[in-house]
Amino acid sequence: MASLTIRKLDDAVKTYLRLRSAKNRRSVEEEVRVILRELIEGREEPLTPFSAPPAVSTAPTPQRTGALPEASVTLIIGGGIAAYKSLDLIRRLKERRVEVRCVLTKAAQQFVTPLAVSALSHERVYTDLFDPQSEFDAGHIRLARDCDLIVVAPATADLLAKMANGHADDLASAILLATNRKVLLAPAMNPLMWSNAATRRNVAQLQRDGVVLIGPNSGEMAEAGEAGIGRMSEAIEIAKAAERLLRPPVPKPLAGKRMLITAGPTHEPIDPVRYIANRSSGKQGFAIAAAAQAAGAEVILVSGPVDLDDPAGVTVKHVESARQMLEQVQAALPADIAIFAAAVADWRVANEGEQKLKKTAAGMPPLQLVENPDILATISKLTDKRPPLVIGFAAETEHLIDNAKSKLARKGCDWIVANDVSPATGVMGGDRNTVHLLSRKNGGKDGEIAVDSWPVMTKEQVAIELVAHVARSVTGKSRETAS
Ligand code: C5P
Repeated sequence: MASLTIRKLDDAVKTYLRLRSAKNRRSVEEEVRVILRELIEGREEPLTPFSAPPAVSTAPTPQRTGALPEASVTLIIGGGIAAYKSLDLIRRLKERRVEVRCVLTKAAQQFVTPLAVSALSHERVYTDLFDPQSEFDAGHIRLARDCDLIVVAPATADLLAKMANGHADDLASAILLATNRKVLLAPAMNPLMWSNAATRRNVAQLQRDGVVLIGPNSGEMAEAGEAGIGRMSEAIEIAKAAERLLRPPVPKPLAGKRMLITAGPTHEPIDPVRYIANRSSGKQGFAIAAAAQAAGAEVILVSGPVDLDDPAGVTVKHVESARQMLEQVQAALPADIAIFAAAVADWRVANEGEQKLKKTAAGMPPLQLVENPDILATISKLTDKRPPLVIGFAAETEHLIDNAKSKLARKGCDWIVANDVSPATGVMGGDRNTVHLLSRKNGGKDGEIAVDSWPVMTKEQVAIELVAHVARSVTGKSRETAS
C-alpha cells in the first residue's frame, strides 16, 4: 500500500485538512481516512481551495445533530476470568458511537468465544498473528494504527509484562508494540500477582511509557475466599475512561462571559399583512451563537424572523422589527461581548396602515419611510453599559474594505466583519462566506485599521474562527487582529 506524508502536501490542501480536522476534533491522519471513506461512499464534502492559511481554531465544534463523532477502538481481550466483563464493555463502547474491533489472546479464548465477541462487535474477531486472511496487508499493523485508541481488558499480568518489555510473539503483543495510538489498560489479576515486585516494576515502566491505567479495583476475587486489589474495573468505568481519552473535554475559553448576538432580517410593517424585508437567512448569526455557546459563553440571541431552529443552550428572543430588536438588545445588557450580525432594515414605513391598504382609483398609496434606529451605533456609543468588545458586520456589494473601514469609524464599534454579498457570491442565504476582519490597531489609538482576510469557509467555520478570535482577545492572548 502507498503511504502518504501530510507534510509533503501543498499548502492549500494542508490548510484545508488542518481546519477540517480541528473542526471535527480528529487527527489530520484520521481526517484523511474519513475523507477517503466518504469519497468511496460518494458523500464527500466539496474541497474548497483556500487562498490563505487560516488560524487553526481552538474553539469547539458546534454539533449539528447533537450526535457524538464516531471513534474506533481496538479492544484486546486478555485471558482471565474478567474477560466476561469485556463483552459488556463492547456494548458500552458501541452505545457511545465507538466502533470496536476485537483481538482475543489464546488464553482469552478459554473464557469467551470469538463467536460471542463477533456477535456483539458486529466485526470479525482477530486471534492469530499469522492469519492469512488479514496478513496480506499486515493485519496487525492495521489493528495497531487504524483506530483511535487501544484498550486492553482484562490486561493480565502476563500481557503487562510482555508490553513493558517489548515482546511481540503473538497478535496482542505485536499490536501493542506496533501502535502509535494511546493505550488504556484495565488490569485484572490475583492480588498477590498485582503486588508482586515484577508486576510493580512493569506497571511503573508502562506508566513512564505514557500508557493509561484504569483500576484495578479492590474486592473479592473469583478464587474462593480471596480478596484485595486486582478486580478489573467495571465495563462502564472502562468505557468512560476510554471516552475521556477519545473525546477529551472541550475547552471553554468564554466561560463566565455573556455574549449578545443579533441575527436575521427585520420585518418592517406596511400594514397588518405586508412588510418590508431583506434576504438575510440568519445562518451566520445563528452559527456564531452556537459556536459561542460551545465555547462556554452565556449567549443571548436576538433574532428577526428566520427559518432556523434555536441553537441549543442559547436564550433566543424572537422579534420582528428593528425597534423591537433594539428594545431586546438594550434589555439584554450588560454584556461582555456584542456581535451585531443582523441585517437590520435601514428604514421603516412612517405611515403604517392600521388596516390592510386597498387598491383605490387614486393609484398607489404613498409610503413614507423614516430611518430606523441604528442598533450597532447606539450600543457602541453608550457610555455606561457599552460592552467592552462590540463587533459589527458590513455586508457590501462594492468597495468592500473601504466601506467597511468607514463603517468602523462611523458606528464606533471595535471590529467589523466585512463580507461581499453581491448576488454572484451566493453569500445571502447560502452556506459559505468569505470575510475580512477589520480591527483598530493598538486599540484604535493611532487610528490605523488592520485587515485580516480569511479564506472562503462555511458559515459555521467563520463562526468558529470569529469566536476563537474573540476568546483570544477577551482572555488577553493577543494574536493577529485580536487587539
Ligand atoms: O449600515 P449597515 O446596515 O451597513 O451596517 C451594518 C451593521 O450595522 C451590522 O452589524 C448591522 O447588524 C448593524 N445595524 C444595526 N442597526 C441598523 C442597521 C445596521 O445594528 N439599523
